[in-house]
Amino acid sequence: MTRYLIHGGRPLHGSIEISGAKNAAVAILPAALLINGKCRIENVPQISDVTLILQILRELGADVRAVNKTTVEIDCSHIHNKPVPYELARKIRASYYLVGALLGRFGWAQVPPPGGCNLGGRPIDQHIKGFVAMGADVEVRNGLIHARVEGGRLRGGQVYLDMVSVGATMNIMLAAALAKGMTVIENAAKEPHIVDLANFLNSMGANIMGAGTDVIKIRGVESLQGGFYSIIPDQIEAGTYMAAVAAAGGEVLIKNVIPKHLDCITAKLVEMGVDVEELDDAVLVRRTGPIRRTNVKTMPYPGFPTDMQPQIAACLCLAKGTSVLTEGVWENRYRYVDEFRRMGARIQVDGKVAVIEGVGMLTGAQVHACDLRAGAAMVIAGLAAQGDTEIDGVYHIERGYESIVEKLSNVGADIRIVYIPGDEARIQAG
Ligand code: EPU
Repeated sequence: MTRYLIHGGRPLHGSIEISGAKNAAVAILPAALLINGKCRIENVPQISDVTLILQILRELGADVRAVNKTTVEIDCSHIHNKPVPYELARKIRASYYLVGALLGRFGWAQVPPPGGCNLGGRPIDQHIKGFVAMGADVEVRNGLIHARVEGGRLRGGQVYLDMVSVGATMNIMLAAALAKGMTVIENAAKEPHIVDLANFLNSMGANIMGAGTDVIKIRGVESLQGGFYSIIPDQIEAGTYMAAVAAAGGEVLIKNVIPKHLDCITAKLVEMGVDVEELDDAVLVRRTGPIRRTNVKTMPYPGFPTDMQPQIAACLCLAKGTSVLTEGVWENRYRYVDEFRRMGARIQVDGKVAVIEGVGMLTGAQVHACDLRAGAAMVIAGLAAQGDTEIDGVYHIERGYESIVEKLSNVGADIRIVYIPGDEARIQAG
């Protein structure tokens, strides 16, 4: 088991290259199951969630070949449908996309319920509602989601989502791509990765209109063929490094981004006294003065992303004055607060609201990364803190951030990976 050891208090200077978007990749790679032919996918992030999905595709008989570090060729022409192995699927949230993709291609799917970060209840009733609207029967039995459609092919259906759901929107798009007739998703999510999945499928021959708006229409086609595609840059990875500069100070050019996707994060950082200059495919982030307090409410895109909530909280702990943070998406995304308190933060949580009294300076401590974004927030807090911070549970961070230690070291952070013998025993015992 590894931990991160950070000696804080060093401003960051230089440039960081952003990788492909995790939450696009984890849908686009399963989408390859729908394609009869070879697809070449570029800008694939090297993170453990991607490794797991590629392993699942191989289990299903896909021919998966790494062309280079960030490009993969997948040929699903000769896959055989079978129950997805529990040991692989339970580790990631995105395993639910296998239901939409396999149901769309074969008319049936057996997939274990998804794992991923513990953010409170994470139901998938809206995904199921979509599959049912397309004629499928879905039930959970013997630890597997069983989905099946009579006759082997879904038919177009009308789905109004009860709440804006990224996963349900993408899963219904996957299932509908090869269905007979038109599927309409209303109250659809609008995140950049929704548009990316639609662009991927369309470039392979699908007919999807309206992605990026709240009504998406998918006219099912007979088959999809192979092609090339490059995944968009990761909005949240970019936002995380922007927050790191805000917290630690300094000046960093964050490269390979779509600045428009960052507007919701940039606007808050500017309110907090951080300079952000937008370039064509980069943002220059600079913080020299004090951080100012502000209020933040997380919302579906184009609102402030919930996946940036813990990272912005780290910055607000360092601000002058009191800030109010409201979580508008997940039931329980404040499990990290106790870890911040060990570093001297003053935060009170009441339901979905956290009141953060800025303390100006945090102090290094031994802390735990309780989930992916909380782990990123611990790194940010550690970079800004006085003294040493040791973070365990870093496998959560590595699910979603490619080479985080290397990228931060390259801009002057004092961060390194340490191996602690005996951690395995402790974790297994826990
Ligand atoms: N919801 C339901 N029923 C459903 C689906 C969702 O009640 O069938 C609720 C959820 O409980 C939540 C809200 O709707 O309160 C939104 O959930 P959504 O479906 O949008 O989330 P998700 O698809 O499970 C993805 C990302 C999350 C990110 C959310 C919101 C992936 C694999 N995960 O989750 O990413 O927080 O969208 O943007 O794409 C992360 O990357 O750290 C992460 C947790």
